[in-house]
Amino acid sequence: MKKIEAIIREDKLNDVKQALYKIGIVGMNVIEVRGHGRDGGIELVGRTGTYRIDLLPKIQINIVLSDHNVQRTIDTICESARTGATGDGIIFVYPVEDVIRIRTGERGRDALMYPGDIDEQRK
Ligand SMILES: Nc1ncnc2c1ncn2[C@@H]1O[C@H](COP(=O)(O)OP(=O)(O)OP(=O)(O)O)[C@@H](O)[C@H]1O
Ligand SMILES: [Mg+2]
Repeated sequence: MKKIEAIIREDKLNDVKQALYKIGIVGMNVIEVRGHGRDGGIELVGRTGTYRIDLLPKIQINIVLSDHNVQRTIDTICESARTGATGDGIIFVYPVEDVIRIRTGERGRDALMYPGDIDEQRK
């Protein structure tokens, strides 16, 4: 199992979410974050001169999923989040030790199954 942490533009959240639902990614959580990549934010020109906003608002989407669904999910996020301009975002992939669904006690891949999800769509 892996965790995909995708940092995307705020105004791309809806497109990315819809694209993910379409391929059957069900479980996810979303956090509002602030950060910068290699550009270090943006320069703005005001009346008194230029100033820098170093931490820009971004959206972080977290998805824990089975290894065999990782590449398809990354491709879907890239296609739906890309504008081609700097600041499109970044994706991190982490190994996940275990998952426990609290209500049922299901663990591991069993805890990552949802009706109509990416694995059921493939069958
Ligand atoms: N190394 C990093 N560690 C943690 N978060 C990061 C890292 N790099 C970027 N981020 C997060 O991702 C967001 C988007 O980064 P951004 O798209 O500017 O990346 P970049 O590497 O500068 O690529 P680009 O050249 O397309 O701008 C940042 O605002 C920040 O929240
Ligand atoms: Mg950048």
